[in-house]
Parts: sequence; C-alpha cells; structure tokens
Amino acid sequence: MNMDVIVSLCKRRGFIFQSSEIYGGTGSCWDYGPLGVELKNNIKRLWWRDNVQLRPDMVGLDASILMHPSVWKASGHVDHFTDPMVDCRECKRRFRADQLDEGPWLHFCPATKGNKFTVPAGEPCKHCGARRTLCPECGKGELTAPRQFNLMFKTFMGPVEEDAAMTYLRPETAQGIFVNFDNVLQSMRPKLPFGIAQIGKAFRNEITPGNFIFRSREFEQMEIEYFVNPRDRVEGRAADEYWHDRWIDVCEAWFVRYGMAGENLKRHEHAADELAHYAKRTVDIMYRFPMGWSELMGIANRTDFDLKQHAQTSGKSLTYFDEERKEHIVPFVIEPSAGVDRALLAFLLDAYREEEVRGDKRVVLRLHRELAPVKIAVLPLLKKRPEIVATAGELRATLAREWTTVYDDTAGIGRLYRRQDEVGTPYCITVDVQTVGDPDKGEAGDRRVTIRERDSMEQIRVPIPELPALFRELLGEGTWAAVTARYPRANA
Ligand code: GAP
Repeated sequence: MNMDVIVSLCKRRGFIFQSSEIYGGTGSCWDYGPLGVELKNNIKRLWWRDNVQLRPDMVGLDASILMHPSVWKASGHVDHFTDPMVDCRECKRRFRADQLDEGPWLHFCPATKGNKFTVPAGEPCKHCGARRTLCPECGKGELTAPRQFNLMFKTFMGPVEEDAAMTYLRPETAQGIFVNFDNVLQSMRPKLPFGIAQIGKAFRNEITPGNFIFRSREFEQMEIEYFVNPRDRVEGRAADEYWHDRWIDVCEAWFVRYGMAGENLKRHEHAADELAHYAKRTVDIMYRFPMGWSELMGIANRTDFDLKQHAQTSGKSLTYFDEERKEHIVPFVIEPSAGVDRALLAFLLDAYREEEVRGDKRVVLRLHRELAPVKIAVLPLLKKRPEIVATAGELRATLAREWTTVYDDTAGIGRLYRRQDEVGTPYCITVDVQTVGDPDKGEAGDRRVTIRERDSMEQIRVPIPELPALFRELLGEGTWAAVTARYPRANA
C-alpha cells in the first residue's frame, strides 16, 4: 500500500483534509470531513462499548485538557518528555537526532580528499568514521549538537501572560485519570482490579510529524488505566504481570475483531533502553504501515509510579484499602494506550482494495460494517421519475432513524455504486420503475427494492416493509448468506 493513495482518497471522498488548507495548511494538523468524523466516531463508540460498557470492571471519565501545571512536574513530563533535536545552521530546519540515521546520506569524505559517497542508513563513513553532519533536507548546512526539546505545548491561563499563569496542553490523557483516582474510588466504590477509561485530545509539539495522520501535533487517545493490587496473585503470577498479558491479548483481538488482518499486526517488546521512565514493561502492537512496521498502540506496566508521584507532590493520599489484608496499598497500573487517528489510518489501509470487475477497476473499502461511515445508501434508478425519487426519499428518512443513511442521485447507477464502494458503504438500495410501477401504462409497482451488498456485489429483491427488520439483522449479528437464502436474487 502506498500512503499517497489513501491520502488522496481521504481528501477526494471527504474523510480527512489538511487543517487550514486555504491558508497553506498548519503543520501536521488534520481536519476530519463528513465521512471521516463518522468513521472516527464509530471507532471511539466501539472501543468505549467493548472496553467500558460491556465490562463490569471498568468505568469512564472525561477530564479537562488544561490541568494544574504541577501535574506535569509530578508525572515527569516537564523533565523527561523530551526528544533530542538538531538544527540545520543553513536552512534552520529541525530534526530528531535519533531519526537522522534512518536514511542514507551524502558525504564529502576528508579522508579521501573530499570524494563524494552515499553512506548507508545508520552507518558511519567507512573511511573517516564520521556520522551525518550535514542537513538531510538542504544537504548544505552543518547540524548543531543535539539538544533536549520538550514536546509539551505551553499556554497561559487567565488574562496575564506570565510564568505563574503558564500551563500545558495535555500530552496524554492518562494523567487526568491518575489525578481523579481518589474521586472515582470514593464516588463509585470499585474493588480492585478495576479500570478507568478516557477518550480525548492530546497535543505534542512533535519535531518530525508526518506520514499523514500517523504522527501529528493534535491527536486523540483512547486510554485505560487498569488498577491492580500488586500483592495479589492470579493463576500463580503477580497480578500486574498477569493483567498486563491479558490486556495485550484483549487489545490485539480488538483490532482483529473489527477486520484488521492478523498478518498486518505484530508485537514489539520494549528493550530496557526503550522503556519510558515510568514503565516496568511495555509491549507495542505494531501495524504494517506503508512506511514499515510502526506502533499502533502500547500497553505499559506503569507500576505505582504515577499514583505515588501525585500523592507526594499534592500531599493527598492516593491509596486503596485492601479489606482482606487490612492495609492501605498503592495499586499498580496497566495502561493500554491507543491513538484514535492511528487506528483509523490502519483500518483504512487494511480495508483498501483495488479489484477488477468486468474489465474496470473498482476501488472498495472493505470496512467492518460497524466501522463503515455510511451504512446504507438509497439510490433512485431514474431521478426524472417523481414517484421513484419520493419513495427513495421516504426510505432514507425511515432508515436514517436507526442507521447513517444517505440519498444520492447525482450520477448513473453504476457510478453511484462505485462511489459507495470507495467509501465502504456495506449496503445500497435501489428504487426503480418496478418498485413504483407506471401509472401511464396502468402498471402497479411491486413495492420491492434491490439491495446490493458491497463485497460480493450480489443483489436481492426485498419488500419495502421488511427493510428495517432486514437491516437490523444485516447490520447486527446476521450474515448476507443467511439473508440471500430467503429472498430472490436480482440481476446485477
Ligand atoms: N499514556 C501513554 C502514552 O501516551 P504513547 O506511546 O506516547 O503513550 C500512546 O502514546 C499512543 O498514542 C500511541 O501508540 C499512538 O497510537 C498515539 N500517539 C502518540 N503520539 C502520537 C502522535 N504524535 N500522533 C498521533 N498519534 C499519536
């Protein structure tokens, strides 16, 4: 898969636009268009349903983006949330020092009288031992020595722009959960193990954003902090280690359940030097993105680091009373943390197919029906026939009460089908002359419509009154195969 193909589809079909495009665009911020917002809402809704509503051990939260600045001191973000960066002295571009070695570089080697070499990615010059010293962008400027750059966006609360009023846009949703730990404990009285989930925006001043929505400066996270008693044992193992493995399995299975191909997913165990300052162990779920295997989400064992830090900095107790052992403990935390935008990109890439149908290319997004931004498209075969248009309009209005349903009459039927395929609409309904009849010829309509299924392109003929029940089946737990057995086929 080529990323440009998805970027172009997203723009053309109203999924994702460059932010502030008419002003030349804002660096690495993206706007979700009419179909993009439906897809994104579906991802968040399914994640929330599966991970919060269906589980007896989970509750939700929606904390504010602007928090007390001490939160970020206590969490370690002020001191540790940095990337080493280098600047080009010539063109002033900025790069992450640890990414400079990711591509080959041009080198005029002093050890060979200035001969020009292309040095392979990640290697020093084999003649003089130098590492990349010139800008990868302009090729001329010397690079500065690495400096630590904090990724948090600063802002000011209140009318005065002074240091005392300074705070940050949150770089992760997690801290909103930790600082509310005691509020949730006191109000909901949950028993360990239990989790608190949150979906919301996060902001990072990334030095090298890119790869479309994969790494941007404003994005959304779906995070869970799952609190366990570190003194408990489950199936012979320490509770935190047991639950860490359980959550890794749950998270990977979630992507597969909504259609992601298993061979495009793998796990990456962080080596000791990769671990964040708070983590005992972290496993990433990686997706085979067009630029290579990259992190889709991470599942970390954050131990008791955050609760202890916040207790110490705020002076408030953040403990749980273990009734059995009659003691106060600080829970350990397992943190499944996923990016909504990254998940959306992976779902789109995974669903994209180019197929040949009767000598023509068909682009189709084979999105899981629960993810598809539009579930049903109602299409009139002839827009000049008022009865057809009226019936199609009524159908759209009825079905829209339960599912995202659109009406489109802006092209011929073949073109309309292709457009719906390209945005992943699982079902199209066509209203035709047979449906409404022809009063001029004294012919009554059969009040049946054609339903076309996206992936097989098979069509069946269904009485209009049966549509709501049929779609409840098709967009619920039913299958197309079961439904087609009950209705006559229509010619494609
Ligand atoms: N609370 C832990 C945490 O924030 P992270 O690995 O920095 O951990 C978690 O981020 C997830 O958030 C990532 O796996 C990714 O899906 C998403 N994410 C992080 N930075 C991002 C960015 N700049 N743009 C888009 N998504 C991002």
